[in-house]
Amino acid sequence: MSGKPAFYITTPIYYVNDNPHIGHAYTTLACDVMARFMRLDGHDVMFLTGTDEHGQKVEKAAREAGLDPRAFCDKVSKNFRILAKEWNFSNDDFIRTTEPRHVRSVQALWRRLEEAGEIYLDHYEGWYAVRDEAFYAEDELGEGPDGRKLAPSGAPVEWVKEPSYFFRLSAWRDRLLDLYDSRPGFIMPETRRNEVRSFVAGGLRDLSISRTSFSWGVPVPGDPGHVMYVWIDALTNYITAAGYPDEDGGDFRRRWPALHMVGKDILRFHAVYWPAFLMAAGIEVPRRVFAHGWWTSEGRKISKSLGNVIVPSEIVARYGLDQVRYTLMREVNFGNDGDFSHRGTVRRCNHDLANDYGNLAQRVLSMIARNCGGRAPRPGDLNDGDRELLDGAYGLLPATREHIAVQAFHLMLQAIWGVVGDANRYVDEQAPWALRKTDPARMETVLYVLAETLRVLALLTQPVMPESSSRLLDQLAVPESERQFDRLNADHALRPGADLPEPTGVFPRYRDEEQGAA
Ligand code: MSP
Repeated sequence: MSGKPAFYITTPIYYVNDNPHIGHAYTTLACDVMARFMRLDGHDVMFLTGTDEHGQKVEKAAREAGLDPRAFCDKVSKNFRILAKEWNFSNDDFIRTTEPRHVRSVQALWRRLEEAGEIYLDHYEGWYAVRDEAFYAEDELGEGPDGRKLAPSGAPVEWVKEPSYFFRLSAWRDRLLDLYDSRPGFIMPETRRNEVRSFVAGGLRDLSISRTSFSWGVPVPGDPGHVMYVWIDALTNYITAAGYPDEDGGDFRRRWPALHMVGKDILRFHAVYWPAFLMAAGIEVPRRVFAHGWWTSEGRKISKSLGNVIVPSEIVARYGLDQVRYTLMREVNFGNDGDFSHRGTVRRCNHDLANDYGNLAQRVLSMIARNCGGRAPRPGDLNDGDRELLDGAYGLLPATREHIAVQAFHLMLQAIWGVVGDANRYVDEQAPWALRKTDPARMETVLYVLAETLRVLALLTQPVMPESSSRLLDQLAVPESERQFDRLNADHALRPGADLPEPTGVFPRYRDEEQGAA
């Protein structure tokens, strides 16, 4: 067993009624960046994603596709694995709720809740939205143009009347409020926490947790006429993958609790139902639930009917993978909604990446190749300006750690780009091309300071842009074994005189044929 601190992060598990779109890619990307950062920073990381395969919505989608639910799930679940590969996601596991390990886990949790007296059998009569897989109270509903009742999400609702097991959610109100109050970082961002808090403070109804009107789900132990409500099934995936129900053997105690990254639309399930289930079963609650915002496309809501769904593989083919990863993490303050636009993406690709970062690397590496015989420069004494740039670069690790600890990916990138800007100003001020004739020794010092700054920058951009950062690090001859964050200091600085490979550009400009380069 490793002595490194454990860190467990999860994406929602995705419904297989739909193919991957930008929403899926975005949540998983944020987790990937976090997981990569923590691994590089010496943590023993587990990063989980997967697919949510039971319930009425998936059963209906399978029927519409003319497939048996299992065959349908196999087919669509594979598309999420493909997405993970295409986007270079570093997940350690991929869970499917139809796997035996999960069925065993969710049935064990059910039994635990039943033994604790938290479950009772009754009848459910009320509104249900299949699209949201959620129950709604009458006063939550609105009306569509045709007079039909709609859930707050806009999903149609239907009246359901059937026998059902219930979870005593109403009894958990005060303990949930205590949890939110005693752990302000449990739900983030704060505005979302306040929304959840007031929802819970308003009182909770017991939750219907089984259905009898369809069969595509995990059978309720001891009463197989019922299948479990898909959310109790789905949420449990997070502990299944950590080893539940083997709480004492295996890795469970070391792994759990997790940080859950979710979209704002599914916060209530994660921040109300899930901690209540866990507390009722005597299991620790999650470390945090972070709810991110939603993307629009060119200013419009994304929807199939508008035909403006953003397909992850298409934007990667168009702009490049690391370019898209960077744009999504930089363009909005993580937690807020954002707009994905062609113009905005091209600006990020050309301005931040090609001009600022790429050009810095290209200028420095090609000057070194031309003027230092293809070797890392040999510095003389450093002056205050040199030290200032390097100190700024070394100071990035504590700064980015603080941002990552609160999932402020945009602030992490802004901090890194602050040093990119400083380095570009330093090149202009120091004008190493002019020093070549007047003071070659000083030129070597300046180029060394820049190359060392680049090493630090390339190490720190690895979580967001793994592939491009790796190419930069190759060009600086930093071996793979020296790319951990414990190398982000002067003790592990670039070795003067080391052979460097021929430099090549890493961030090409995006050229827009119709509109001209932005
Ligand atoms: N199966 C449930 C989650 C169960 S977790 C125990 C589910 N699946 S989903 O496939 O619908 O999830 C989609 C995810 O994508 C959610 O986190 C949702 O917030 C996110 N997004 C869907 N559209 C989105 C945007 N337009 N923008 C950003 N994220 C959005 O819910």
